[in-house]
Amino acid sequence: MEGPASGIDPRSDSNDSSADLAHRPVDEKVQKLLDEALYGGGRPAAQSLRNFLNGTWLGQPLHVVLTDLPIGAWTVAMLFDALELALGRREFARAADASIAVGLLGAAGAAASGLTDWSDVDPPARRVGFVHGLLNLGGATFFLTSLLLRKKKSRRTGQIASALGYAVMAYAAHLGGEMVYKHRVGVDRTDGQVFPETFVAVLPEASLPESKPTRVNYQGTPILLVRRGDRVFAIAETCSHFGGPLSEGTLEEDSIVCPYHFSRFALRDGHVINGPAVHPQPCLDVRVRDGKIEVRKAGATASDATPA
Ligand code: FES
Repeated sequence: MEGPASGIDPRSDSNDSSADLAHRPVDEKVQKLLDEALYGGGRPAAQSLRNFLNGTWLGQPLHVVLTDLPIGAWTVAMLFDALELALGRREFARAADASIAVGLLGAAGAAASGLTDWSDVDPPARRVGFVHGLLNLGGATFFLTSLLLRKKKSRRTGQIASALGYAVMAYAAHLGGEMVYKHRVGVDRTDGQVFPETFVAVLPEASLPESKPTRVNYQGTPILLVRRGDRVFAIAETCSHFGGPLSEGTLEEDSIVCPYHFSRFALRDGHVINGPAVHPQPCLDVRVRDGKIEVRKAGATASDATPA
């Protein structure tokens, strides 16, 4: 599992000083500065913007959706360039130029969302993401240069620039894939966890203190229990973002804040209130029987479900 928190703790005044930061690797320094900028002094508008760019509202990383735009548009541009070279028709040239422009617009959105995601990525994926971002910047610069050259009637040079940009972008996309498929960035870390289909006892009721996030296990799967007054909540204990232990998180009313990058989840149904998480926490039904707290997967079909 990756190490904890690269993010800024909104409740702490002990985040790294610039003197500490000077001795860190360059990717870590850039990430800290970026994280601080995105934190925006804790203003709610900054949090809303981060939620939007992370894709909290979408239920999946927005970056993944937006990257299709430049990759698709620039692939089409390469195709139109080839057709123009082969057939010499003006409409293919215009289509190639328009595709490059569309790709540049998409690249701006992909960069904004990607930077926001990367600000909460821990090693070793952080370094891969850093190189991925730099290469994408290089690729986009080639395409921008290509467009400008084309407008100045240096069409062949512009086509060479866009071909170079495409090669750079392709390698950057390969690194993006490595981040997801090897380092599991953006993947729901609760996926594959097994929760009971029928009610099972996990803790004596008397052992659950008031308002203290408590971890219990069901066949090796950690479950978070929280007692709030006369209610007991149960959700997956592993944070869907990067696997942070929610039992070590902070309660904020009826929600829990992850100790790693401060995603906030509603205890009631596990939905994401604040990112960087985008996937909700699996939620469990809870009841108390014979002095024991029992849980089962939410929505499982037992007829005797009685909320605790
Ligand atoms: S592990 Fe990143 S917010 Fe929980």
